[in-house]
Amino acid sequence: MGVFLKENFSMQSVERYRNDFLAYLEEKTIYKEPRNLYEPYTYILGLGGKRLRPVLTLLATDLFGGNYKDAMSAALGVEVFHNFSLVHDDIMDDAPLRRGKQTVHEKWDVNTGILSGDAMLINAYQLFEAYQGDTFKTLVQLFSQTAVEVCEGQQYDVDFENRDDVTIAEYLQMISYKTAVLVACALKMGAIIAKTTPENQELIYDFGFSLGTAFQLQDDYLDAFGDPKTFGKQVGGDIIENKKTFLYLKALEFGSKEQQKQLKDMFSIQPTNPSSKIGAIKQIFTDTGAVAATKDAIEKHTKAAFVALEKIAIPEAKKMVLRKFGEDLMQRTV
Ligand code: IPE
Ligand code: IPE
Ligand code: MG
Ligand code: MG
Ligand code: MG
Repeated sequence: MGVFLKENFSMQSVERYRNDFLAYLEEKTIYKEPRNLYEPYTYILGLGGKRLRPVLTLLATDLFGGNYKDAMSAALGVEVFHNFSLVHDDIMDDAPLRRGKQTVHEKWDVNTGILSGDAMLINAYQLFEAYQGDTFKTLVQLFSQTAVEVCEGQQYDVDFENRDDVTIAEYLQMISYKTAVLVACALKMGAIIAKTTPENQELIYDFGFSLGTAFQLQDDYLDAFGDPKTFGKQVGGDIIENKKTFLYLKALEFGSKEQQKQLKDMFSIQPTNPSSKIGAIKQIFTDTGAVAATKDAIEKHTKAAFVALEKIAIPEAKKMVLRKFGEDLMQRTV
């Protein structure tokens, strides 16, 4: 009975953070001139998405005894930054679809995507002006450090497209920069706003870093094996772009000489009709055991997140909320 009540509480609270965040987003949404700068901005932010990062910021503030409403501006800053990174990422990845709709550069054009993205990045910074003194300074330092790392990760991601000697260690570093640090940052910001101890701030960062690593591995998996009806992005996009994902690197490692040759050959071309390339590559990912290895890695990094969580000095009921959150992420299909 006790356990049931706690679990019920956890799910309700995550939903409440999400709903409150959406109401705040709605309230702060700006409709102003020039339209071609702000329409793409409100378009992408209004398309939905899981709202993972802002929920984590609010959750972390609550977790460490703060008032989660105080974290709204930071949560929005993180989400606006995330959406900026998606607009530019979709240009870099030549992606047609985002959250089931046309990407910004497809609906408008590349220049519009660049400038709207820039405005979003700057607005994200402005959202931290809601904080004062040491809290403000600490938040901005963390945010700047994170934003630069995301750029570094994105550059590695693109550089790797044209390399055929990428290692698993390099891949892990790349995804930790492009994805894990922002998940970690979102949580640590909540901890900073709650004014918890530096030890707790580091531990929640570590939790987010491992969870974010698992999250990107899952993103890679879904990019190839997601259901086109529900996934919201172009299935096979990473294969089309010759992305050196965990699936690809493990398939190279486990494959026979023949499979290795096929992989390398197919990852050096960009056919106009990619459907047979996508089909053949997915078959190799499955046959070589790369899919199984990816699923293992997702679980391993999620478990590592739970180990960091164990060390945090908060009540067990609150840890359960985060554990459930991590477990749900592993089951996600979008
Ligand atoms: C997509 O992030 C980009 C990655 C870092 C994998 P999400 O999967 O969180 O995207 P939305 O916000 O839910 O659409
Ligand atoms: C994106 O990685 C990471 C950032 C946007 C910084 P992906 O390129 O895999 O993200 P999706 O799959 O397009 O969402
Ligand atoms: Mg992309
Ligand atoms: Mg990308
Ligand atoms: Mg992806």
